[in-house]
Amino acid sequence: MEKVKIEIEKLKIKLNEWGNAYYVLDKPLVEDSEYDRLLNKLKILEDQFPELITEDSPTQRVGGKVLDKFEKYKHKTAMLSLSNAFNKEDLLNFNDQIHKEIENLNYTFFVEPKIDGLSISIIYKNGILFKAVTRGDGVFGEDVTSNVKTIKSIPLIIPDKSDYFEIRGEVFLSKTEFEKINYQRQENDENLFANPRNAAAGTLRQLDSSIAASRKLDAFLYYFMNRELYDTHEKSLEYLKSLNFKINNLSKICKNIEDVYKHIQYIQSVRENLDYEIDGAVIKVNEFDFYEKVGYTSKYPKWAIAFKFPAEIKITKLLDIFPTVGRTGKITYNASLEPVQLAGTTVQAATLHNADFIIQRDIRVNGDVKVKKAGDIIPEIIEAVKNDRFKLLRKWKESVYCPECNSILERFEQEVDQYCINSLCSRKIVRGIEHFVSREAMNIEGLSIKIIEKLFENNFISNIADIYSLKLHKNQLINLEKMGEKSVSNLLNAIEISKQNSLEKLFFGLGIRHVGKKTAKIISLNFKNIDNIFKLSFEELENIYDIGPIVAKSICDWIKIEENKFLINKLKSHNINTTYLGQEGTKNNDKITNKSFVITGKLSKPRNYFKDLLEEYGAKIIDTVSKKTDFLLAGEEAGSKLDKAQKLGIKIITEIEFNGMIGE
Ligand code: IVH
Repeated sequence: MEKVKIEIEKLKIKLNEWGNAYYVLDKPLVEDSEYDRLLNKLKILEDQFPELITEDSPTQRVGGKVLDKFEKYKHKTAMLSLSNAFNKEDLLNFNDQIHKEIENLNYTFFVEPKIDGLSISIIYKNGILFKAVTRGDGVFGEDVTSNVKTIKSIPLIIPDKSDYFEIRGEVFLSKTEFEKINYQRQENDENLFANPRNAAAGTLRQLDSSIAASRKLDAFLYYFMNRELYDTHEKSLEYLKSLNFKINNLSKICKNIEDVYKHIQYIQSVRENLDYEIDGAVIKVNEFDFYEKVGYTSKYPKWAIAFKFPAEIKITKLLDIFPTVGRTGKITYNASLEPVQLAGTTVQAATLHNADFIIQRDIRVNGDVKVKKAGDIIPEIIEAVKNDRFKLLRKWKESVYCPECNSILERFEQEVDQYCINSLCSRKIVRGIEHFVSREAMNIEGLSIKIIEKLFENNFISNIADIYSLKLHKNQLINLEKMGEKSVSNLLNAIEISKQNSLEKLFFGLGIRHVGKKTAKIISLNFKNIDNIFKLSFEELENIYDIGPIVAKSICDWIKIEENKFLINKLKSHNINTTYLGQEGTKNNDKITNKSFVITGKLSKPRNYFKDLLEEYGAKIIDTVSKKTDFLLAGEEAGSKLDKAQKLGIKIITEIEFNGMIGE
């Protein structure tokens, strides 16, 4: 036994050393196969002697723990954010502020890349990784320890045995790993992540830690909370480095704003060559002594600032413009582009919105265009590059016919978009089904657009009601490509469960023009079942608060169509619930459910709106204030009720506070 223990210790030391060289320093010491061989040897020994497994064993990083939810964790010190600078002038102002506080004192700046990931706080107790917590709202974060333990560049054990040791940094996914994950997702017909940051967020928030383990998250650490040990940020980072944490190596000490600006430009110039995304630079006063003097606002430290890089713009060739049809028949024009690297991803498609957008900018096929990522997610074409070649290209003309069903496209009055108005257009139907099953509507998991297309092509479904007959074709479904037995039964199960949905989900899912989630909810709440809705007149609809004439007309037009009545009857014949279920008390909110409210004064919406909302949460609405009243919701010019409530010491809330209570 003692011999095995020594053997295990030796293996762990070697593997941790190799792991550190590989994952933290990026300088592998041995071939991957050699590492795997030893890891396997360790695994075998640990399987035989599980009592010898320790926290710092590299075998403990594979994940496997599945949580129900993430526990909330209160940060010992709030996790602040940074204020932003966009140009040199902002930096000079930042410096002026600091100068005011610590005039005559020598301070320097520490400039480092701003990693575009998710901030994390990691706590070690007596040298052992104890907790890893997301930023959350800054005060409370989520305990994501089991996922963070799978990050190979974060040591599970450190030589610093302080009873409390906290560091902060950024979890991210490399560009390479991001492309790999998306490639795999595409193969599996899954939704793609928009960028590495989203992919990292989606991974860090997985309840099953083996998913995080398989996705190779990484982390840079940039902030040491035990500040009393060192007098500068620079030295504290060196110390963290000596403990095997991954510290970014593009940082620099700068003497003044001029130097700071130069280094920011340097970081920007290498941005593209890095295998991780950065969205700016962070500038911090280097000397800890000055932190308290310079101080904080409630949200930011005044001794640091984030310099944000402008959105990246690239020029590439526009290969083609092609229209697509949405579920409402709306035509969207899309561009296919010569692939170009942009803000961390390879871009080869972009939206061009509608025909007017293209014509106004005189965008032409085969010409060069400037592309940027709007909000760093969806690529957008800004303009055409009007060079010599441009003049030789043919002007672009809008499509006349639907690309799917060839019917003539129409424009509605006062709308810029073109529409396919053929109700039998197959693309519209497929997109309509996609909308019907989406999460906000009937929430039927397992029906991706690809599967819907397949079911449609194979004549299993030709409208939303047919979804509920799919169970009759179970065996044929199993034989459809990529649909195994398990996924078919999961799907059929999800379809059955969706029958119990409350009316608003069904009503939204019908895809009536201008009926969004909120409108569907208001109508369902007011009229309770689908039969009542079918009896409504334009006036009755328009009389409802928040429903305007356009929405009212759209609903009226829809219910007048015979086919739609037929569709609803068909849905009913499948026993789909068509009533509103969100009545009293179905929603739970500890602050509201079973509490009594009095409403008074002028509010931004009619009193009935608040009454309905409160009733939904199972609150009681009372006319007069008494000792038993829990809350007085008071608007402007509140009179005697307010006085009485004040006298009785009833809790008085404003509309803003009320919105806060219900989480809006
Ligand atoms: S320092 C109190 N340094 O940017 C100062 N933050 O916009 C703590 N970030 O919430 C932050 N790279 O998530 C710092 N090198 C860096 C950073 C960095 C990325 C993130 C961090 C922060 C956000 C603020």
